[in-house]
Amino acid sequence: MKTPLSDLPPLKGPLRAEALLAWLRTGEPEALEHLWARADELRRQGVGDEVHLRGLVEISNRCARQCAYCGLRAANRSVSRYAMSDEEILECAHQIREYGWGTAVLQSGEDPAFTSSRVEALVRRIKAETGLAITLSLGERTEEELRAWKRAGADRYLLRFETSDRALFQRIHPPLPGRECDRLGLLKLLRDIGYEVGSGVMVGIPGQGFESLARDLELFAELELDMIGLGPFIPHPDTPLGTSTPPPSADQVPATVDMAFRVLALARVQRPEANLPATTALATLDREQGRILGLQRGANVVMPNVTPLHHRARYSIYPNKASSNETAEQTRLQIDTQLASIGRSVAAGPGHSPAFRRRIREQEGAPS
Ligand code: 5AD
Repeated sequence: MKTPLSDLPPLKGPLRAEALLAWLRTGEPEALEHLWARADELRRQGVGDEVHLRGLVEISNRCARQCAYCGLRAANRSVSRYAMSDEEILECAHQIREYGWGTAVLQSGEDPAFTSSRVEALVRRIKAETGLAITLSLGERTEEELRAWKRAGADRYLLRFETSDRALFQRIHPPLPGRECDRLGLLKLLRDIGYEVGSGVMVGIPGQGFESLARDLELFAELELDMIGLGPFIPHPDTPLGTSTPPPSADQVPATVDMAFRVLALARVQRPEANLPATTALATLDREQGRILGLQRGANVVMPNVTPLHHRARYSIYPNKASSNETAEQTRLQIDTQLASIGRSVAAGPGHSPAFRRRIREQEGAPS
């Protein structure tokens, strides 16, 4: 379907599913140019020209789950497992501090070795020793854990809902035995606890149709997300989704970097004041341009990987991950150069999203 620009709905958000669908499906180059320009404009108005750098520390690749898309799934015996020590993690946090970045992101599979009290102590130490903002991305954890970590000083939590298509989600994301899995419920809980909340999706999951992708974008607005992370689905050969070829369907969302850019730009239309990273998955499918184009099509955050190199390659969510064998220092120089080339600069400070700051102000100002 080639809807010309003049027939497409205006890019004034939040858009409803029907309008989003038209933008997801258009094949008109002129329409896409308009979408990129509008996303860039909304990004500038909503979050400004500065780019926030978050140091990403992949603290453990152990995982109890069996997600059909992810290379870290428990059943994958061909990945050698590691978990960082607290000292190693602290060292990474200090390095982030020295670089002048404001946030440490601790990410892992669902690793039971990172118990509630261990993470709590880790968060307290990082806060006390570095003063960094702390983002946790440790999977589906209990309410008690999430509350304890917030009390200990964690600022943000990332948990992608991956797809709003419930049947598809259940197929690719089996629950732990005897447990229920309700990521949307967890996102609401995180928000109530006081976290700055991030979520997002993969673009082009086998079986993902355009209507559900439009619904994903609607949900970004309904959930009032503070951060939205998304990237193309990248098949991993050691996973069920990496080896099966679904019957081709006209409705299948393509797992391309271009489709991911569209979703990114539309996410900016949906949430002008949210923080949106140009993700590693974008940089993986387009090594030269992925990150820069992301920053010019709605994104305002980059998450450079500071995981020690001897662990790095083993955090293989998907194959050929960008930056998987360059030092943090190399990545840092590269990003500084890339930002300078597009007239953007590195932000100082913790870099909370304007969306979150507005929410906190409104809560504080509201009569009790
Ligand atoms: N391709 C792209 N993204 C993936 N993720 C996991 N596996 C893949 C894959 N094969 C994403 C999921 C998860 C995040 C940490 O990485 O969206 O939430």
